[in-house]
Amino acid sequence: MRKVNILYLLLSIGICSSFGMAVLYLSKSLANVISINNEEIIPSYDYHFVLIGQEIDNPYFQTIFEGAQAAANEKNIYIEYMGPRQTNIEEHIKMIEMATAAKVDGILTQGLTNREFKPAIDYAVNRGVPVITYDTDLDESKRLAYIGTNNYEAGYEMGMELIKDTDGQAHVGIITGFLYSNNLVLRVQGFLDAIEEAPNVKVVAIESSNISSSQAADKAHQMLRKYPEITVFFGTSALDGLGISQAINKINPASPILVYAFDDLEETLELIKNDKIQATVQQNQYEMGYKGVVLLYDAINGVQIPSTFYTPTKILRKNDLEE
Ligand code: BGC
Repeated sequence: MRKVNILYLLLSIGICSSFGMAVLYLSKSLANVISINNEEIIPSYDYHFVLIGQEIDNPYFQTIFEGAQAAANEKNIYIEYMGPRQTNIEEHIKMIEMATAAKVDGILTQGLTNREFKPAIDYAVNRGVPVITYDTDLDESKRLAYIGTNNYEAGYEMGMELIKDTDGQAHVGIITGFLYSNNLVLRVQGFLDAIEEAPNVKVVAIESSNISSSQAADKAHQMLRKYPEITVFFGTSALDGLGISQAINKINPASPILVYAFDDLEETLELIKNDKIQATVQQNQYEMGYKGVVLLYDAINGVQIPSTFYTPTKILRKNDLEE
């Protein structure tokens, strides 16, 4: 019992000190930017915002950061971009907590899941750190506003496109980034509601890719083995379409299976040009970052901001790319 207690104590000290170091780093990071050779100079930034992305190197989030950085430059804001290397809810939450403890001037984050994200967002807001959700909303939290796609509508629209292309006859496999993340749940729900209109469009399986293209490829591969009747795939997040077409290509490069995807990553557009992906939902991720920073800035400066700000989406097909 005693041994267990000591171990527990040591572990707690370890966790607390690494958290403390991280907070110290965060709160110092602004100071580092404004001091040269330890000489006191007038602070060069008016605010310090933190943007947390679900995966730091994912090109989708890099574009959001580019937008956020552009707005931050215009408004004299220091923006710190961080995120887990690979999607990880625990790490993501820790980053919100660290930014809160460092009392930054504002946080931009997704609200991926209710159970984990609501307490972290509410805690930040209660401590006076305003939070805006982008990409994935959590409207039951105390976030000031949401900026991003109307995910239900986007999923619905994709369902309608599929009905049109298949004359209402299809066996569909869905690969979704996460089974539980709020935005993807809405996309799938919108899609399922749309295909209710077509009784001969049937979903045979839904699997998660953990927003990784290689896992999307594995899942698509397994699905095709298990359900050879699949005629259509719907990939709900940025890397799913890429993984799905990799799997199809491996099994049969001349396969007539149709693929519907999300986002406009370069590889996705290439696959559309080569008829490997039929259509994709283009989100406006740059605007999410840009306008997210502007909304946060406005709110801090007493401007009334809308609680929901939908960024437009567009269905992209081969002919759109040729124009
Ligand atoms: C979604 C993000 C997700 C990303 C994964 C995008 O379509 O909007 O929530 O993290 O795909 O690559």
